[in-house]
Amino acid sequence: PRIAVLASGRGSNLQAVLDAIAAGALAGEVVGVFSDKPSAPALQRVPQALRWSAAAKTYSDRDAFDADLAAAVAAVRPDWVLCAGYMRILGGAFVERFRGRMINIHPSLLPKYRGLHTHARALADGESEHGCSVHFVIPELDAGAVIAQAVVPVRGGDDAEALAARVLAVEHPLLLAVMRLAVGGRLAEHGATVTLDGH
Ligand code: GRF
Repeated sequence: PRIAVLASGRGSNLQAVLDAIAAGALAGEVVGVFSDKPSAPALQRVPQALRWSAAAKTYSDRDAFDADLAAAVAAVRPDWVLCAGYMRILGGAFVERFRGRMINIHPSLLPKYRGLHTHARALADGESEHGCSVHFVIPELDAGAVIAQAVVPVRGGDDAEALAARVLAVEHPLLLAVMRLAVGGRLAEHGATVTLDGH
């Protein structure tokens, strides 16, 4: 299976996928990495031929950027589109085009804390548990059907950075577990619910 990855930043989740493929632990191929930030470190994790980026801020509007991004992603003929630290909101037309084969990893226990600054918000609320979710992408931000979650404790003395690091450590294995289901053809979106065995 062909995997396209959208990333805006560091790319540690992308690296986890690349490492798993290299180790024979994930039967897929990363066929492109796409970014709204030409300087994103994530891009450096793959050979140049697999990189696509454009500075979103140079476009007149969201639809214009999304159209270029969609064309580039479609050109690599992905079976799965993985948003891994992709920080720009995707418009409805983009999402519908890849609906059912696009997933996102989000650093909160959805439906809690959609959007940004999840760790700081969880701390401010005095949560005792926090974590991350992998979900299908729908036009509404961070609102698609949840596939799997990983939970970590919030500890006294945590700041947002410490909590983010604890969550990130479980993001990578969670994402790989879901990607194994996806590339195995065992993962499907049915509206608001998910089936874990397509057979
Ligand atoms: C992760 O915490 C991801 O859940 C969030 O942004 C961060 C990206 O990290 N959306 P990386 O770029 O994969 O290292």
